[in-house]
Amino acid sequence: MDRILIRGGNRLSGRLPISGAKNAALTLMPCALLTDEPLTLRNLPRLADVDGFGHLLNQLGASTAIQGSRPEDFGRVMTIRAGTLTSTEAPYDIVRKMRASILVLGPLLGRGGEARVSLPGGCAIGNRPIDLHLKALEAIGAELEMAAGYVKATAPGGRLSGGNYRFPIVSVGATENVVMAAATARGTSRIENAAREPEIVDLCRCLVAMGASIDGIGTETLTIEGRDRLHGATYAVMPDRIEAGSYACAAAITGGSLELVNVAASDMRATLDALVEAGVTVEERARSVLIEATGGIGPLTLSTAPYPGFATDMQAQFMAMLCRADGASVLTETIFENRYMHVPELARMGADIRVHGRTAVVKGVDRLTGAPVMATDLRASMSLILAGLAAEGETQVSRVYHLDRGYERLEEKLSAVGADIERVGDG
Ligand code: UD1
Repeated sequence: MDRILIRGGNRLSGRLPISGAKNAALTLMPCALLTDEPLTLRNLPRLADVDGFGHLLNQLGASTAIQGSRPEDFGRVMTIRAGTLTSTEAPYDIVRKMRASILVLGPLLGRGGEARVSLPGGCAIGNRPIDLHLKALEAIGAELEMAAGYVKATAPGGRLSGGNYRFPIVSVGATENVVMAAATARGTSRIENAAREPEIVDLCRCLVAMGASIDGIGTETLTIEGRDRLHGATYAVMPDRIEAGSYACAAAITGGSLELVNVAASDMRATLDALVEAGVTVEERARSVLIEATGGIGPLTLSTAPYPGFATDMQAQFMAMLCRADGASVLTETIFENRYMHVPELARMGADIRVHGRTAVVKGVDRLTGAPVMATDLRASMSLILAGLAAEGETQVSRVYHLDRGYERLEEKLSAVGADIERVGDG
């Protein structure tokens, strides 16, 4: 299995291109199931999760074709054609490896009135149930049956009725599923306390480009007037605000200067505000953001929250950065119950972190030291890479497949801006 080796201590500097957003890609791809016409997605990141989702779409009978992409290019263009579906099932083997597979549930129901999807089961960052996905779909007319670890959802008469649902807590995935399903319902649906993440806005815009009618995009109330049919479209995936935020932390923790190219600063306001509060210079340009950290890092008090709050997907990377802060920081994780698995690994590199329930107190240390560490999930892995970039000596990060799920050609992007980083196989 591959490992990443980092010899820390280099200040990063230069221009670093940001890829299309993983989490947007994973909700835009299933939109293709809603129409028999082709959906072309541009700026799709080259990631293991995107390949996995393509594979799932293939199993359902959709074809996926990559156009004119050269190996040196970041991102790809993919055309998905779901002319006729040959299956309406997302099997356990796929859902277990990639939780986002449950995002075929809504579009399959919307397209053919039927879907059978494996329950995802446990996940490294907590329990992560799908009860809200199911309740929302039920509210717009789905009938559900659970058996043998699967949920079977059907639309009576082959088409969902539409209906109203108010989420008790904000869920990104459940909002995505119900919006996709409602797009082709017979009637109108009103979804309240919907997630407002930029990836949901991207989803709604893509659906509108396919002929859907959605009101309130970007707000917590979405009104979706069902359409008889959707058509094909060409749509560009939004920039990855979490990848951009991660590399901003890389600039900060190495005392460097990075221009992150192809980002939408307005989508990552909470991250940029937190960096500024920590004393990092942030300069917003038309399609890029310059991050400069020459005067050290100040401590922060941060709590994760649904958008527009501070993203849970940035918590681990900020924790790594704050290990080098001048003072004690307090981080509180409010979204997932078990998202501090990077703490013991960071501690092996000399970090001083105490966890009390959902709160972590991070005392800045003078130096981090390289060590062999093990990645446990995607963003946790990135926190170890960040710590490695700032540590003295060599850090070896194993279980690199977590990083490959969400960071396009990480070692290539980082070495181009001065990091001493390489991928080695066990050979
Ligand atoms: C998405 C993102 C993930 C991010 C998360 C929160 C994708 C592919 N993943 O995950 O990177 O960390 O949003 O921003 O886009 N919940 C329930 N019942 C449900 C659904 C969720 O109780 O049916 C709970 C979850 O356990 C969690 C909270 O709601 O505590 C928020 O989860 P949710 O927003 O649904 O996260 P995901 O869509 O899984």
